[in-house]
Amino acid sequence: MHQTLPEKRRYEFFVTCAPGLEPLLHQEIRELRFSKVERQVGGVRFEGTLRDAWRANLELRTAVRVLAKVARFEARDDTELYRGVQTIPWRTYLRPEGTLRVDAHSNESALEHTLFVEQRTKDAVCDQIREETGVRPSVDLDDAELGVYVHLFKDRCTLLVDTSGDSLHKRGWRRFQGRAPLAETLAAAVVIASEWDRRSPLVDPFCGSGTILIEAALAAANVAPGSFRARFGFERWPGHDAAAWTALRDKVRARRAFPNKLVLQGSDLDRAGIEGAKENSAAAGFEGKIEFECAASADFAPRSGWNAWLASNMPYGERIGDERDLMPIFESFGARLRERCVGWHLAILSGNPNLSGALGIDFARRIDLKNGSIDCQLLLTAL
Ligand SMILES: C[S@@+](CC[C@H](N)C(=O)[O-])C[C@H]1O[C@@H](n2cnc3c(N)ncnc32)[C@H](O)[C@@H]1O
Repeated sequence: MHQTLPEKRRYEFFVTCAPGLEPLLHQEIRELRFSKVERQVGGVRFEGTLRDAWRANLELRTAVRVLAKVARFEARDDTELYRGVQTIPWRTYLRPEGTLRVDAHSNESALEHTLFVEQRTKDAVCDQIREETGVRPSVDLDDAELGVYVHLFKDRCTLLVDTSGDSLHKRGWRRFQGRAPLAETLAAAVVIASEWDRRSPLVDPFCGSGTILIEAALAAANVAPGSFRARFGFERWPGHDAAAWTALRDKVRARRAFPNKLVLQGSDLDRAGIEGAKENSAAAGFEGKIEFECAASADFAPRSGWNAWLASNMPYGERIGDERDLMPIFESFGARLRERCVGWHLAILSGNPNLSGALGIDFARRIDLKNGSIDCQLLLTAL
């Protein structure tokens, strides 16, 4: 069995995203000009080489993980599962001394106990490597060198290996978390869905830790979102071509160019959030490029005649009493937008339809999506 990475091998990749973002991810993947791109539930598939997966990990803004399909077989019982898993030359992906983590999902299949499926899969991988080398890999649930995904549907088993490692929302620039930071992948989705032209002013009057503005700045400066990451999953595979990878990453990093005179403005009631947003923006290389100010939405004073975009993740009011307190804030903010922001483009991510309704704005488009476990709406319109 070969142990070096089959550089020329073509894989089928499945790129996952937050539910609801499939169309945006699909658009992003098509822009990278990969082949056989197809939208599916929970993500998008495409075909390509491992180098295409490197690019996908580096460049995709709304993706959570890039998984490479390594096998598909019938698994009606644990013997078929074990045998099927053992058809893969696992030393291609895992060092004998390495660590692994298996995650299983099962639907309409005889093998319905996912914990058992995970253990059998782990045994099949580890037994194979021990038989070949005398050394047995171990399990690590927190920081495994290899992530393996098992999907069982109607007794068909699909095995995938994780090329990303940590979730791709962990870009590597965040220093400050804040109380409820928006995932970077969702913030990027807000910016992409807003159809911002990357030249006009963009403001976020509820900016918190600055995620939306920083993701907007990255897009405008043509910075790949993965350029800050310390490591991706594929870098830990045996036979990884570190020199070729470093050359690609350095080339991508070198194209950074922040547009002259671009105006990005954020404000928030929370002073600690604003200080954190400044810290985050500096870590992403935008020190002094994004204006942050501690201010309440009641002080939001849009310049008339500005052809600006407003992209914001407004408070959700999850705790009892919050909604009642927030209602007048939404009402007056909506009134201000309607009076003073004619000609602006709005992209508002809301986790509370009662509150977003209080804005009194007739949105032209709505994208339903999940922010973790919370059902959210991304509301879009030109005023
Ligand atoms: C859902 S959070 C935004 C999180 C942000 N997108 C991030 O990634 O960190 C909503 C923000 O609205 C701010 N906020 C609540 N009421 C406000 C008000 N009246 N004026 C300005 N900001 C307010 C909160 O401090 C909080 O940071």
